[in-house]
Amino acid sequence: MKSIGVAILGLGVVGGGTYKILTEHRDFYRRTQNVDISVESVLELNRQRALDLGVEESKISDNIAEVVSNPNVDIVVEVIGGVEPARTFVLAALHSGKTVVTSNKELFCKYWHELEKAAKRTNAGLYYEASCVGGVPIIRTLIDGMQANVVYRLTGIINGTTNYILTRMAREGLGYREALKEAQALGYAEKDPTADVEGYDAAYKLSILASLAFHTKVPLEKVYREGIADIAQQDISYGEELGYCLKLLAIGKNDGKGNIEVRVHPAFVHKDHPLASVSDSFNAVFLEGDSVGDIMLYGRGAGAAPTGSAIVSDVIYAATHSEAKYATFKNTQMAEKGVRFITDFKSRYYIRFTAKDRPGVLAKVAGIFAKYNISISDLIQKGEDIENIPIILITHETGECALRRAMEKIAQIEDVVEINSVIRVGG
Ligand code: HSE
Repeated sequence: MKSIGVAILGLGVVGGGTYKILTEHRDFYRRTQNVDISVESVLELNRQRALDLGVEESKISDNIAEVVSNPNVDIVVEVIGGVEPARTFVLAALHSGKTVVTSNKELFCKYWHELEKAAKRTNAGLYYEASCVGGVPIIRTLIDGMQANVVYRLTGIINGTTNYILTRMAREGLGYREALKEAQALGYAEKDPTADVEGYDAAYKLSILASLAFHTKVPLEKVYREGIADIAQQDISYGEELGYCLKLLAIGKNDGKGNIEVRVHPAFVHKDHPLASVSDSFNAVFLEGDSVGDIMLYGRGAGAAPTGSAIVSDVIYAATHSEAKYATFKNTQMAEKGVRFITDFKSRYYIRFTAKDRPGVLAKVAGIFAKYNISISDLIQKGEDIENIPIILITHETGECALRRAMEKIAQIEDVVEINSVIRVGG
């Protein structure tokens, strides 16, 4: 039986979960995978934490050079997160010819080209299932399950923190701040929640997933990004009245002719769409392939055991395959020539504005929409006997630029007090 030694860089939540799975399932993998995987080294400054997890004292190190030069180590698992020192450590491992398994979406989406180049130089493997959507096997699905297809569309709820916050706002009527505090108390949101609530975490993942789905480099800076921090409770309630749930969506579209659209932003999803039922901290990715049609993967996008599951799946893959697999596209820092990234998205829009309850105000608004060829599909007007009333409308599909220009004009109408919200509808 083949023996494989693993080093884990960082024994935080995910590193600890990975250590536990690898050690508790060692016999199971011997039986089912015909490979003996042992943890030979951990890089962890907090020795006590490593000892508490059951790591032998002799296997705890605080020196990356010692870890990557250890002849018993074949695979290095990086679960430190962030760019540095993770990048330096991963490059050191690859330069030493060790295969790397990482859960680090930020490092991977920003430096994939550099890491892949280093891996190819020493024929090392480079695996990253855990970087996107935690325990949901989306990367292997794209690489090994969807190869037959031209993937035209990828729509995902790929951040559990924001999904939890939006679910609590919808179910309990909480405001954004209250829901965020609750998510922080439960450990779903970080003390500094910026990466999650401003959509950076989802943008990192979308950059990786869209590159794989569309077989071309989708650099992070091409991903349009908006977060959920400005979402008002009223919009979630009005959306529900109109038959929609609010989600932070990651959307990738590919027309097969070099035109690609990648964006992360809040969006209303119709209650009948499968993504509408993805609640709490769960994640899901909906894919549309030309042969398979629609498929959806659903599960936990974070946490020690789900993310550990994805890491260990890569460790086993690397342990049982002698040839490494790299990106299917020319992996450079830049997008390929000939690929165009669309910024004038087509979408339906939910708009809430406040207007004085006077004759003619709706006619003026409708007139501006007509001028920009924007058609209204739903409209509700709220409140009686108050001077300033909320008006909520949903448009048919229109271009982002036309919509923005129309909204600028609508804001100038004398009886329009304020434009409160503009939220996209659907993917
Ligand atoms: N913070 C992420 C989320 C998990 O809330 O989904 C790791 O990417």
